[in-house]
Amino acid sequence: QEEVYRRGMLEGEPPEFPVSYEDLEERAREELDEEAFAYVAGGAGSESTVEANDRAFDEWQIVPRMLRDVSERDLGVELFGQELPAPVMLAPIGVQSILHDDAELAVARAASDLDVPMICSSVSSYTMEEVADELGDGPDWFQLYWSADRDVAASFLERAEAAGYDAIVVTLDTPKMGWRERDVELAYLPFLAGQGIRNYFEDEAFLDRLDTDNPWADPEASLESFIDCFGDASLTWDDLEFLREHTDLPIVLKGVLHPDDARKAVEHGMDGVVVSNHGGRQVDGAIPALEALPEVVDEIGDDATVLFDSGIRRGSDVVRAVALGADAVLLGRPYAYGLGIGGEDGVRAVLENLLADLDLTVGLAGCASVDEVDRSTIRRAD
Ligand code: FNR
Repeated sequence: QEEVYRRGMLEGEPPEFPVSYEDLEERAREELDEEAFAYVAGGAGSESTVEANDRAFDEWQIVPRMLRDVSERDLGVELFGQELPAPVMLAPIGVQSILHDDAELAVARAASDLDVPMICSSVSSYTMEEVADELGDGPDWFQLYWSADRDVAASFLERAEAAGYDAIVVTLDTPKMGWRERDVELAYLPFLAGQGIRNYFEDEAFLDRLDTDNPWADPEASLESFIDCFGDASLTWDDLEFLREHTDLPIVLKGVLHPDDARKAVEHGMDGVVVSNHGGRQVDGAIPALEALPEVVDEIGDDATVLFDSGIRRGSDVVRAVALGADAVLLGRPYAYGLGIGGEDGVRAVLENLLADLDLTVGLAGCASVDEVDRSTIRRAD
């Protein structure tokens, strides 16, 4: 990991891709179309929760320990029987063609190069099968937007299993999209829909529910149909049985923020949760995800896998989330900016920097492995 530093010192040139999150975001603001930048950066309403997510990390401070032989560090973790090189995965991000033509395929290449698992979104711009092909043998998960049409939901689960995905992430916080003011103002949603729903328009169960043989013949009607079946606001905990009946893969519920919901997930046979507020994109004013993490870990940490996202920007953020009990974290906006700026190379640069930063921060905190990062590694700021 120190190669990143060594390269900088020997070559004496600034890296091609920005290193800090702030520079990355600035570069994306300069280089991407206004719509594409707004798509990634935006959040619900006043975007107060986007900001609160970031600030929540300042509430926790690392207390470095000395003289503990950190010459060899092991960042590896195991999730559902699979070894990961670090407690980091790529969060599901939909419609990546808005950012780069190679979209999810570019992300999959960078992720599989570094053995970092990618979670493929239901609304990916390439089909889940194409993305799985690109990911090869490495660990990969599929994210389900649970359609109101049960046949479509079941078909997605079957396809994900057949394509070789190792786990299903069911996103609970988005039965409908949040009130995103930038999206409304820029009115680019029709473009987004046309680009990003190939998983649906190449799905037999979905095509069956359209009256037309050619879904592109009447795009407006097709889009209505997609919106209709994209999510289901009437779901309740008992409906989880349906998922269990349709897949043997581990199921992880994404968007859990209350410890009682985490307990319910375990009671309903789920294998894990992602503590997340969707990067502040769903409920303006929602609790910062990091604030919710310790309570969820206290409630179910011994019984299920607890993942975390919403605000991971650098290595010290990963350390803090892991110290609070997360088994791994999902990286979101940073890699989306990397994709937008530099395609596959941009995603690779963002990931390499994050992993190098994480490796140093774990070691300098006095930990030789991720196992050693626990609540004693941090304290609450005064
Ligand atoms: C998302 N997220 C998301 N989540 C999901 O389950 N399915 C999806 O298709 C998407 N799409 C998506 C697009 C964009 C542009 C963003 C920024 C986010 C949410 C994502 O998985 C994750 O929860 C957040 O990105 C975490 O917040 P930060 O750390 O990126 O701020």
